[in-house]
Amino acid sequence: MLDTTVLDELRSSDFARLDAGGHVYLDYTGAGLYADSQLREHLELLRQNVFGNPHSLNPTSAAMTELVERSRAAVLDFFRASPDEYVAIFTSNATGALRLVGEAYPFRPGDRFLLTFDNHNSVNGIREFARARGAETTYVPSEPRDLCVDEKLLPRYLTEVGGEHHNLFAYPAQSNFSGVQHPLTWIDQAHAHGWDVLLDAAAYVPSNRLDLSRWHPDFVALSFYKMFGWPTGVGCLIARRVALAKLERPWFSGGTIVAAFVQREWYQSAPGAAQFEDGTVNFLDLPAVEIGLRLLDRIGIETIHERVELLTSRLLEALGALRHAGGAPAATIYGPRESTKRGATVAFNFLHPDGRVVDERYVDRVARRHNISLRTGCFCNPGAGEVAFTISRETLVGGEFGDGTTLDDYIRAIGLPSGGAVRASLGLASNLADISHFAAFSREFVDLATVPDDLPPRVGC
Ligand SMILES: Cc1ncc(COP(=O)(O)O)c(C=O)c1O
Repeated sequence: MLDTTVLDELRSSDFARLDAGGHVYLDYTGAGLYADSQLREHLELLRQNVFGNPHSLNPTSAAMTELVERSRAAVLDFFRASPDEYVAIFTSNATGALRLVGEAYPFRPGDRFLLTFDNHNSVNGIREFARARGAETTYVPSEPRDLCVDEKLLPRYLTEVGGEHHNLFAYPAQSNFSGVQHPLTWIDQAHAHGWDVLLDAAAYVPSNRLDLSRWHPDFVALSFYKMFGWPTGVGCLIARRVALAKLERPWFSGGTIVAAFVQREWYQSAPGAAQFEDGTVNFLDLPAVEIGLRLLDRIGIETIHERVELLTSRLLEALGALRHAGGAPAATIYGPRESTKRGATVAFNFLHPDGRVVDERYVDRVARRHNISLRTGCFCNPGAGEVAFTISRETLVGGEFGDGTTLDDYIRAIGLPSGGAVRASLGLASNLADISHFAAFSREFVDLATVPDDLPPRVGC
């Protein structure tokens, strides 16, 4: 077992603001938290230097270019990606990385876009690019019991390809809804059938090792603020060079070309990452990526993994043990009940003694009282929600949004028990005290027969 005391030391030094403010932060899948030292190091760097727009020859530009390229190399190094095989492209977030792939993937009629039900909307949205280019989109369902994909089912989808087509398979290494970790072995399986693989690693990499010398997805999307809190506004597409060469950018812009003419409609794309980095990169923030990665390396991602795995088991135990006086369960968990096949994100609902779901808006209200930051809703992952709440395709058709329909009207129309689930997620600064506070908060729902009728209207899922 790894020694995780370094994380307790960090909690009382670099994350002291959590306890000083009485915060119980349980939304690491929403955003990671930064350590004080990251800010100090970054600001010190900015204070002591003069940095210009990178990629020119003047001294301030050259200094900046060097740091941008150092951060790029640090990303590849952190993920053990060989620079001969992979390129790191800076984007504004994971969504930006996913869009780069979606808009440039050479979908043609007869091609396939295959993806799991369990996906963030930023992956679901790629189906619009596929549709516009005549490719067919197919979803692989999850099992209602634990929101995993039936291992026997996937090969059936993967074999449904033929000939010389371009086919893209997209899935999350970890679900941002349920915390389910979908197997990385799918990457090789998909490759064996000729698929390109897009791995959404945004929710996985903050507390799991993604080793790109062991696994070779074609495209990996992530956001750095989810890994170490600071900076926001910077994500990355880590792409295999061979896969990148297949992409067809729909346009060119400043920064992405070597040269372009006006009197002749000609341009020459820049090589490597530059072709995909539109305009000026977020250069002053990029050195903070190297600083954040160094912090994770100092702690050890395996140490973080061990800590959150243990805490996740405790959180699951607390929810599993929650009973009303009559013995009925006071919570239901969506996803694996044990700490295997899952990460540190737990989706659940509290239940009334008669089995009805406790309105998630009331859960939000009670959480606020406890100064607990957690999430409620569908977390931009409608597919996982549809399986968790056993909503069928037919039900959804019956409840189409119309003019003037509010989200509350829609939820009533399709007969949903609530506006979504509750999500608690853990990260590098989480500790046992957070779990104890969470358990105390959970007990407020024991024997709760009704909720107040002054809950605010829902504005989004
Ligand atoms: C699995 C997953 N994919 C993609 C995203 C989108 O990330 P961003 O909003 O940083 O682009 C998120 C954000 O929560 C996520 O959890």
